[in-house]
Amino acid sequence: MDQFAERRDRLSKLITDGVIVVPAGHLATRNNDVEFEFRQLSPFWYLTGFGEPDAVAVIRPGHEKPFTMFVLPRDPKMETWTGLRTGVDAVQEKFGADTAFPTTELEKELPKLLAEYEKVYYALGSDKKLDELLIDQSVKRRRMSPRGDKHLNEIVDPMPVIDQMRLIKSAAEVECLQKAIDITAAGFDIAFKSARPGSFEYEVQAGMEIEFRRAGSPRNGYPSIVASGENACILHYISNRDQMNDGDLLLIDAGAEYDLYSADITRTWPVNGKFTPEQKDVYEVVLAANEAGIEAAKPGEDAMGVHDVALKVLTQGLLDLGALTGELDTLIKDRGFLPYYMHGTSHWLGLDVHDSGVYRTGGRTGPSVKLEPGMALTVEPGLYFGPFAEDAPEGLKGIGIRTEDDVLITEDGNSVLTSAVPKTVDEIEEAASAD
Ligand code: GLY
Ligand code: MN
Ligand code: MN
Repeated sequence: MDQFAERRDRLSKLITDGVIVVPAGHLATRNNDVEFEFRQLSPFWYLTGFGEPDAVAVIRPGHEKPFTMFVLPRDPKMETWTGLRTGVDAVQEKFGADTAFPTTELEKELPKLLAEYEKVYYALGSDKKLDELLIDQSVKRRRMSPRGDKHLNEIVDPMPVIDQMRLIKSAAEVECLQKAIDITAAGFDIAFKSARPGSFEYEVQAGMEIEFRRAGSPRNGYPSIVASGENACILHYISNRDQMNDGDLLLIDAGAEYDLYSADITRTWPVNGKFTPEQKDVYEVVLAANEAGIEAAKPGEDAMGVHDVALKVLTQGLLDLGALTGELDTLIKDRGFLPYYMHGTSHWLGLDVHDSGVYRTGGRTGPSVKLEPGMALTVEPGLYFGPFAEDAPEGLKGIGIRTEDDVLITEDGNSVLTSAVPKTVDEIEEAASAD
């Protein structure tokens, strides 16, 4: 619990001139009286470590009792159906709340907590009930201002501040990420051993995900992409229903979640254990781009520079493979690579697979954020000769390859957290042939 308290303290030093209100998630109906599986919202988890729905955290920087929680009250009847709740008393003992109320008292108690503040830090639009309550408060206080009530003048989004905090991972967070990655790596190990000509994508997925669950991951950070043959050219292919043929590549992009932190790993390999010469040529280009991108991921360097470096290797590779003609610089400037490489090379990684935090400051064309120790990002170049790349050389058609690693920026460079997963041609062929 110390790390959550430390984050609230740190946030209270960054935001000092208002009260901060952060909602938990709510259950979403799937159909009738059945709900989707609940997973806490990441910003709420980051500040509280509290995993139940419908809660609200209120942080009053500088106040003698700065941390208030609204939580679902104990209710034996409901808990019999949906699981035990922490309740108002235990949320103070176990989660460090200075004050706690049942969510049933939100309308009555939240206005009291806000009364002395003219500025509320809350992400408008993030919670219907809080949206209404805060706007309603603003109107009521305007009406009562002649009698002495303070105006509630400003509702300001605290997420940019929280997002920037989340960008730098603590040692404890890195441990969670590494654990998620190790579990995912163990799942890939099973997938390498089980995918053979004739296997179905869902079978390989099931074997991999059994290992995720067995090793302690309650859920995936995102739906697994298990894409054989040309399916690998559909970037977020998740139907995973096809049968693998001899000669197919299999692309798996998967990440187990551990303590709400997500891994994000992609490997592509031949299901018969041996790349064809064309597959190998493309693989080597993607691998070189991945390695160059990782090399560029260092403290003080531009975060966006990782993409630029990888893109240059990929575009030169497309020239060498005969998929493009022309000048390297012109092809990059005019985005001639787009038919074969249509996504970014990196994103932040953490509680969310596409984690929070800006990549540029000062707008879309503004300068790149500089990399700093504690930042975690993916490096995931790929090349895709899919159904819409009509001008691709015949021999490359149907090939889709991505290689994705998770990289932590350190004081003196970086640490590849996914280094245990086979990656070179030899390692891949060996892993894909092992019993
Ligand atoms: N799995 C989604 C991504 O790699 O960004
Ligand atoms: Mn991925
Ligand atoms: Mn990714």
